Amino acid sequence: MTATIDSQTTLSDSTPTTHEGILAWVTEVAELTQPDRIHWCTGSDEEWAELTASLEATGTFTRLNPEVMPNSFHAASDPTDVARVEDRTYICSRAERDAGPTNNWMDPEQMKELMRGLYAGCMRGRTMYVIPFVMGHLDAEKPMFGIEVTDSAYVTVSMRVMARMGTDVLRRIEELEAAGEDPQWVPALHSVGMPLEPGQADVAWPCNDTKYIVQFPEERMIWSFGSGYGGNALLGKKCYALRIASVMARDEGWLAEHMLILKLTSPQGVTKYVAAAFPSACGKTNLAMLKPTIPGWTVEAIGDDIAWMRIGEDGRLWAVNPEFGFFGVAPGTNEHTNPHAMETIRKGNSVFTNVALTPDGNVWWEGLENTPAEATSWKGEPWTPDSDELSSHANSRYCTPIKQCSILADEYDDPRGVPIDAILFGGRRKTTIPLVTEARDWNHGTFMGATLSSETTAAAVGAVGVVRRDPMAMLPFIGYNAGDYFGHWVGIGKDNDAAKLPKIFYVNWFRRGEDGDFLWPGFGENSRVLKWVIERLDGQAAAVETPVGHVPAPGSLDIDGLDLTEEQVAAALAVDADEWRAEIPQIEEWFEKFGDDLPAVLWSELDTLKARLDG
Ligand code: GTP
Ligand code: MN
Ligand code: MN
Repeated sequence: MTATIDSQTTLSDSTPTTHEGILAWVTEVAELTQPDRIHWCTGSDEEWAELTASLEATGTFTRLNPEVMPNSFHAASDPTDVARVEDRTYICSRAERDAGPTNNWMDPEQMKELMRGLYAGCMRGRTMYVIPFVMGHLDAEKPMFGIEVTDSAYVTVSMRVMARMGTDVLRRIEELEAAGEDPQWVPALHSVGMPLEPGQADVAWPCNDTKYIVQFPEERMIWSFGSGYGGNALLGKKCYALRIASVMARDEGWLAEHMLILKLTSPQGVTKYVAAAFPSACGKTNLAMLKPTIPGWTVEAIGDDIAWMRIGEDGRLWAVNPEFGFFGVAPGTNEHTNPHAMETIRKGNSVFTNVALTPDGNVWWEGLENTPAEATSWKGEPWTPDSDELSSHANSRYCTPIKQCSILADEYDDPRGVPIDAILFGGRRKTTIPLVTEARDWNHGTFMGATLSSETTAAAVGAVGVVRRDPMAMLPFIGYNAGDYFGHWVGIGKDNDAAKLPKIFYVNWFRRGEDGDFLWPGFGENSRVLKWVIERLDGQAAAVETPVGHVPAPGSLDIDGLDLTEEQVAAALAVDADEWRAEIPQIEEWFEKFGDDLPAVLWSELDTLKARLDG
């Protein structure tokens, strides 16, 4: 039986959709990749049960003890397939210039030819899953559809957690078409790149040494090959909701950002909404579910990774979280650092990848309470607390439904989103960057974002702990020329009423003292910084002006009940002119990369900074 006949049979048998464009694309992919079967995902509980059972059968999943973690699974990846592969990620715009100096580029036709070669027959012996999904709300004014085709059941199961998917999405596309609208959808093709010959046994984590994560921005299309890891393979997330969406946002005048969204309510009942961009593994998921340590303040979560923000009719910047789940870094997550994430996870229905498995059928990772006497490491080896190796990969992740989060704000379900009052940029810096700094205005805030720097983490393959510029925490995710992206940010400020736009702040939870310890306790205590930020919005909190912006005036940061001296707080807030002068050449070198594509106002901001440091 050839795949062509088989796919046609499958298509007509289950008549999953009448949408010709989708049928044609799925058929074309099937002809190229030659799967044994095609499965159109419904998103039902029965389908979840079947898929998870089949993943247990191939050894990809181990079912956790239902009494401790119901309907949840442990997965261990191939040890080489554990993170986003930035050096294998391409923006294939027609013109190289449009990918800019921060992205890998190849001519789109050349890339397609190369990848068609890789895709030819690559799904042999496997099932091809067709996943209709929507990022954001199904009843949004313009729903953001996608169709992911993948040969990975692991990806399919994870997509069900992370995105609204299934038959409802297909029906909505058809409905809109029938109504004479032209619903756009992003074709997203994924293969692990490991066909099976007849009789060949599968492995627990199929993947390929050759990997390509490719965005075609003009065609709004994604092709991914060789990896099963979340950021490379769950194509609704980084590939669509950031790389492709950032291009749509540029064209349509909105913002697609690597930001959490939270709702903060003061003891007086005043509500504010904050979005924050920190690079991968720098604290977004932690802050999104923050449990304030200051009395009377509450935080509710709206999103932990991605924000789509549009100027509303009222001139304010409205944000939605396009995702449906949390894909969080496991190590370091515990009852102290993120109690709400722990509570969310414990409700089950989750997938844990590259953490340790305990003898009682639970998961464990570094930083979690109740260290087990023994466990099986993510590499499948016996592990004890005395082992030299870590039990879990540093970028191991939990994948859990957002609806299980008990502090999810009701506004999460509102397709209009929430009006953002403050934007925080932040990175992981041992020195230089104060705990919190307020930008003087939108352009200064854009400068802060454009020069954001952070020490690299395990979330991407490569060296860890190296300081690099990560503009708006979007370095790996800007789907076009970053110089144009900065221009787009400047433009949002220019084209809109500054008084209605969010105020911009720069935070750093990671500054260290001479003893090498963090100067600021972080986590729940970050509520004190949020309080200062909120109080700045209406001018309640006092600030001092420094060359780099406004920092809290002595006594204005609420440190009541905190085990820190005034000196320690001062050290966390200090602006050291020498440290900042040392940044200048790095910023110049960074800006020079963009040549004439860098908006001139950013050079002016740098000049202002220099003048203020020397003034
Ligand atoms: P992605 O999901 O990869 O985009 O990253 P993220 O920004 O959501 O990162 P996450 O919240 O998972 O950050 C995890 C890391 O940041 C862990 O190492 C935490 O210990 C550390 N972290 C988070 N918040 C704080 C904080 O306030 N202080 C300190 N010192 N560390 C923090
Ligand atoms: Mn992220
Ligand atoms: Mn996160």
